[in-house]
Amino acid sequence: MGAKFVLVANRLPVSVTRTEEGFLFKPSVGGLATALSSISTEKILWVGWPGLPAEDFAGHEKKVFSELESLGCYPVCLSREEIEVFYHGFANRTLWPLCHYFLQYTIFEAAYWEGYREVNRKYAETVAELADEEATVWVHDYQLFLVPGFLRRLLPRARIGFFLHIPFPSYEVFRVLPWRREILEGLLGADLVGFHTYEYTRHFLSSLRRLLGYEHQLGLVTTETRAVKVEVFPISIDYQKFARAAEDSEVQARIEALRREVGERRLILSVDRLDYTKGIPQRLWAYEAFLERYPEWREQVVLVLVGVPSRTEVEHYQELKSEVDELIGRINGRFGTLGWTPVHYLYRSLDFPELAALYWLAEVALVTPLRDGMNLIAKEYVATVPEDRGVLILSEMAGAAAELSEAMLVNPFSQEDLVRALHEALSLPRDEKIERNRRMKERLRRYDVHRWAREFLSALEETRKLQESFV
Ligand code: UDP
Ligand code: G6P
Repeated sequence: MGAKFVLVANRLPVSVTRTEEGFLFKPSVGGLATALSSISTEKILWVGWPGLPAEDFAGHEKKVFSELESLGCYPVCLSREEIEVFYHGFANRTLWPLCHYFLQYTIFEAAYWEGYREVNRKYAETVAELADEEATVWVHDYQLFLVPGFLRRLLPRARIGFFLHIPFPSYEVFRVLPWRREILEGLLGADLVGFHTYEYTRHFLSSLRRLLGYEHQLGLVTTETRAVKVEVFPISIDYQKFARAAEDSEVQARIEALRREVGERRLILSVDRLDYTKGIPQRLWAYEAFLERYPEWREQVVLVLVGVPSRTEVEHYQELKSEVDELIGRINGRFGTLGWTPVHYLYRSLDFPELAALYWLAEVALVTPLRDGMNLIAKEYVATVPEDRGVLILSEMAGAAAELSEAMLVNPFSQEDLVRALHEALSLPRDEKIERNRRMKERLRRYDVHRWAREFLSALEETRKLQESFV
């Protein structure tokens, strides 16, 4: 009998790497992986890419498959060539920059598109082999836009949900994509399509109307053959895990160690995958301008900047890495003293205790992406930091800004905004911090990732009923 509930995402929650000692299985980084790992249960079968080319585990398939199987995962094996055209190519050189409004980085290459289509077909075929005819299949993110359409043909009776973890851009941007209609048609294979914010939903509905001529009523889109629901589901975090982090002895040990390293200095925190959408150079320029404008803060603050290596094969990520290295060197060279390093840079991914300790101790979190689907770092910080300590400086361009309105909202392109926000955040009275954090924490407590998943899945069921009344 096939699986009743399948979750499909390009990246599995564990990524495999090959080292001299053998294969390593490590938790994947990124909002999608953290959020979905929190809702995983034994009843879910995960289908996705294990993070390394099939050639790298040739001859060891049995071992890798069985280890993944014990974690509830089934791997989709991709060759080096497929990874190049599908993942580095269409997903990360075309769709990622386009959806984040980086048109100048977007490459339109027919070979990438072909590869994307074929790999999406492969994902759909793998799911169809594993799933029950009436299974619920939840497909995730921009790497798999075509999977709902392929899957609908293979499993006509399945319940298919799709959730997008990044922004859906305005029609004016989306329309430049030569394969725009195919992408929309692929998505319409789903019964329910979910986005983080009302804006992304509006952009999608407007593209459907203008490119395919489909109208909607209250988010119910009707095509010649079926009805598809489009709705907003802002993704969230495992609130209790972060709110209670400081009770954990490993986290406590990290906090103590950090306290010793930072001393009396006030900690400003910045954590992201090293991605050009995150506005890291702009943040560093602003920090430099802040130290220049407010000399009284020199030696009083320290910026801990965590940059998690990401998509290192793609040129714009390599350029960003050099730019960030250079900027940090410049700031430390310019303002540093024998006893003070203004920027501490960690170019690696942190585990939960390390990350939670930083969230707990930081007095300011500087989350200033130029564009971001949601941004879970912002939510995790608010959940973890003691209410009388932290201030969140948050970009208006992050989906999270729609829910975290008590944060200090800034335009990440305005250096003036960032410099002022840094000064104000460090000077904010205790009562005001408490007031802002309490409201945000309460909101995150009530709408956590478990509720997000429940609401999506029950909306999927509801859509089925709506479709029956429609026919
Ligand atoms: N994260 C992590 N280790 C790190 C840095 C980040 O596990 O060293 C996780 C973090 O907890 C968060 C996710 O990566 O859940 C980043 O999600 P976000 O939505 O902020 O950005 P994305 O990477 O998905 O664009
Ligand atoms: C973002 C995307 C995810 C992706 C993650 C990490 O969160 O929405 O789909 O998994 O970044 O990127 P990677 O390319 O390493 O999977």
